[in-house]
Amino acid sequence: METENQTLLTTTFEEDVYNGLSSYPKYLYSKYFYDEIGDKLFQDIMALPEYYLTNAEYDIFELHKEAITSAFAAPQGFDLIELGAGDGKKTKVLLSHLLQQEMDFEYLPIDISQNALDKLELALHQELPGIKVKPQQGTYFEVLDRLSKFNERKKVIMVLGSNIGNLLHDRAIEFLRSIQESMNAGDLLFMGFDQKKHPQTILNAYNDPTGVTAAFNKNVLTRINRELDANFDLEKFMHWETYDPESGTAKSYLVATEAQKVGIKKMNLEISFDQWETIHTEISQKYDDKVVRWLASEASLEIVRSFTDNDNYYKNYVFTKKLHCI
Ligand code: AVI
Repeated sequence: METENQTLLTTTFEEDVYNGLSSYPKYLYSKYFYDEIGDKLFQDIMALPEYYLTNAEYDIFELHKEAITSAFAAPQGFDLIELGAGDGKKTKVLLSHLLQQEMDFEYLPIDISQNALDKLELALHQELPGIKVKPQQGTYFEVLDRLSKFNERKKVIMVLGSNIGNLLHDRAIEFLRSIQESMNAGDLLFMGFDQKKHPQTILNAYNDPTGVTAAFNKNVLTRINRELDANFDLEKFMHWETYDPESGTAKSYLVATEAQKVGIKKMNLEISFDQWETIHTEISQKYDDKVVRWLASEASLEIVRSFTDNDNYYKNYVFTKKLHCI
């Protein structure tokens, strides 16, 4: 698997690629799908008719905006903190309603990229004049930690898009727990969880006929080629999707269609693939109330209410800190 010379690992990306491709079975983390090309491919996925998640969450905002607004409202106003705001497209429906209702709030989108935040801020000022935006640059937890120390009024922490579904349950609990630690009594967590449904509907969402999802998965190989001077031949890998209705887990793979060797020059590494060998790339977990209640309770949170779309495809849950740990 390795050449005789020592493998060189200088960045976390290199370390993760090395660990993933030298394991059996092989894996790569889906967080590496997202670079400029990957972000664009994900935007395309969200516009696919098969990818029902985005529209379901839009529908929830449209159907329940009044109830969501009153759940957020507080006498001193509130800070609406969004983790992973992206281009803010979905959030704008809600923001626009909050403005119409003359709610007293500030919107604090968190992103690691100052550039993404600058773009979002500009777009929001143009589209929603009068909105108070305070972009927060940093990782989610740096920012939440910072904000928890300056809590003058109610915080509503928002995580949309069922992003939690890309984490295994243990990591999802850690994620929820870190959020919970930054909350005070009365603060809310508002989070989207894609629900279990007809298995074919789920498979179709991750297996579109146009191949955008395949390109999204293969983008991790393109990145390794470009950033680590590797020679993956994308034509020799196919995207494969499975959904297990028992566990609620959709799993994505890249499958080698022929035996091959791939060189990764920057790491002085050669990886062998047997024909039909897999690289596991992503999980997209689907939930039901029982599982969400369990995850919440493991993280000392409790569900206070939930909102769903007309098909019951998707749910946004409102959580508070469990009383005994306030
Ligand atoms: C970002 N995340 C919630 C998406 C999902 O549904 O798991 C990523 C995605 N992967 C394939 N299509 C969309």
